[in-house]
Amino acid sequence: MRLPVTDPAFVADPYPVFAAARAAGPVQWDNGLGMWVALGHAAANAVLRDRRLGRIWRDRSPLADFASFNLIHRNAMLEMEPPEHTRLRRLVSAAFARGHVERLRDWVASVAAALADQVADAGSDGGPVDLIPAYAEPLPVAVIAELLGVPESDRPLLRPWSNAIVRMYEYARSDAVQAAAETAAAEFVAYLRELAADRRASPGEDLVSHLVTVRDTDGGWLTEDELVTTCILLLNAGHEATVNVTANGTWALLRHPAELARLRADPTLVPLAVEELVRYDAPLQLFERTAVSTVSLDDVVVEGGQKVAALLGAANRDPSAFSMPDLLDVGRVDNPHLGFGAGVHFCIGAPLARVELQASLATLVSRFPGLALAVEPVRHPEFVIRGLSSLPVTVR
Ligand code: HEM
Repeated sequence: MRLPVTDPAFVADPYPVFAAARAAGPVQWDNGLGMWVALGHAAANAVLRDRRLGRIWRDRSPLADFASFNLIHRNAMLEMEPPEHTRLRRLVSAAFARGHVERLRDWVASVAAALADQVADAGSDGGPVDLIPAYAEPLPVAVIAELLGVPESDRPLLRPWSNAIVRMYEYARSDAVQAAAETAAAEFVAYLRELAADRRASPGEDLVSHLVTVRDTDGGWLTEDELVTTCILLLNAGHEATVNVTANGTWALLRHPAELARLRADPTLVPLAVEELVRYDAPLQLFERTAVSTVSLDDVVVEGGQKVAALLGAANRDPSAFSMPDLLDVGRVDNPHLGFGAGVHFCIGAPLARVELQASLATLVSRFPGLALAVEPVRHPEFVIRGLSSLPVTVR
C-alpha cells in the first residue's frame, strides 16, 4: 500500500482512500512512507498509548545546516519520553489545565467578538472577506501570545515562523522549504532568548516569566534551551491546529447547511459541534512513533527500530468506532475521536483549544446569519497539517 500523501486530489479528500485501505486491514506497511500506518481507531489509539512506541528525536543532520531546527526539537517535550517528558510537561501543565483555562472563557469570547466586529465591517459592502487572516488566525495567535507574554507588536512574527517550521513535518520537502525552516527556527530562538532576558530583568504574570523564574530558582528543572524550546512549542502548537479546525470546520458547515442551521437554532450544541468538527476533518493527520522493541499491533509485527504512524483522520472515520462516520452530525454524542491524540503526549492545549473553538464558532454562527461561501476556498498542499490557505465568505 502507498498513500499518495503529496497528491493534491488525495490531500483534498483523503477519506475515501483511507476507507479503502482500512478495509484491507487496520495496520499496513506503506511503501512510500517506509513505515507502518495505523488506519483503524483501535490500532491508532494503541500506537499512541504504547510505551514501546516512542517519540524519539533524531537530529536531521549533525551539520550546522539544521542547528536551530534540531535545537527546538531535541529539547521539546513532544519529542521526548518519560522521565524527561514528564519533567517538562509538568512545568506548564497547570497553566493549561481545564480549571485554569475555564477562567479565560469570557476574555476569549471578547477577543472573538472584537474580531467579528472587524469581519462585519470588512464585509459590510457585501464583498468577500477571507476568514483565515480576519478570524481563524488572529484569535488563537492572540490568546497563546497573551498567555506567554509576547507583546502585541511582535505577534505578526509568530505565524510565518511557525508555518515555515512545521512544513518540515511534511513528506517530500524541497531544499528551499528546509532552508526556510532553519532560518525561521534560528530567528525564533534568538527572539525567545531576548524575550526571556527581558522577563528576567522585569518579570510579569506570563508563562515566559514563570519559566524564567523556575529556571533561575532551580536550575535542575530545565535548561535555557529547554525553556526557549518549550515557549516555541507552545506558541506554534498553540495556534497551528486551531486555525485549521476553524477553517476546515467552517467550510464543512457551509457544505452542510442543514447542520449549520441546526447549530444556529440550538447554540447549546456548540461544544458537541466543536468535537465533531475536530473528528470530521482532523487538522493534524499523522503522528509518527518509533518502536524501541518488537511490538504486535493487530496482526502485524512492528520490529524494533521501525516506524509506525497513527493516522488520526483515518481513525476518526473508522466505522467500528463511530456510527455513520462520514456523516457530519453537530449533535454527535458518542465521539471518542483521536483529534487531540492519546497517551502521555495527549494535547496539553486541548482545554484551551476547546474554549477558543467554542467561542469562535458560537460567535460566528450567531453574528452572521447570512454567512456564505464567496468563492471556492484554497487548500494548502500539505497533508500532515491539513487546512486551507483562504476561505472567502460573505457575511451579509
Ligand atoms: C484544535 C486544536 C489542537 C489540536 C487538534 C491539537 C492536537 C494535538 C495532538 C494530536 C497532539 C499529540 C501529538 C502526538 O501524540 O505526537 C498534541 C500535542 C500537543 N499540543 Fe495540541 N492541539 C491543538 C491545540 C493546542 C493548543 C491550543 C496548544 C497550546 C498550549 C497545544 C499544545 C500542545 C503541546 C505542547 C503538545 C505536546 C504535548 C506532549 O508532548 O506531551 N495544542 N496536540
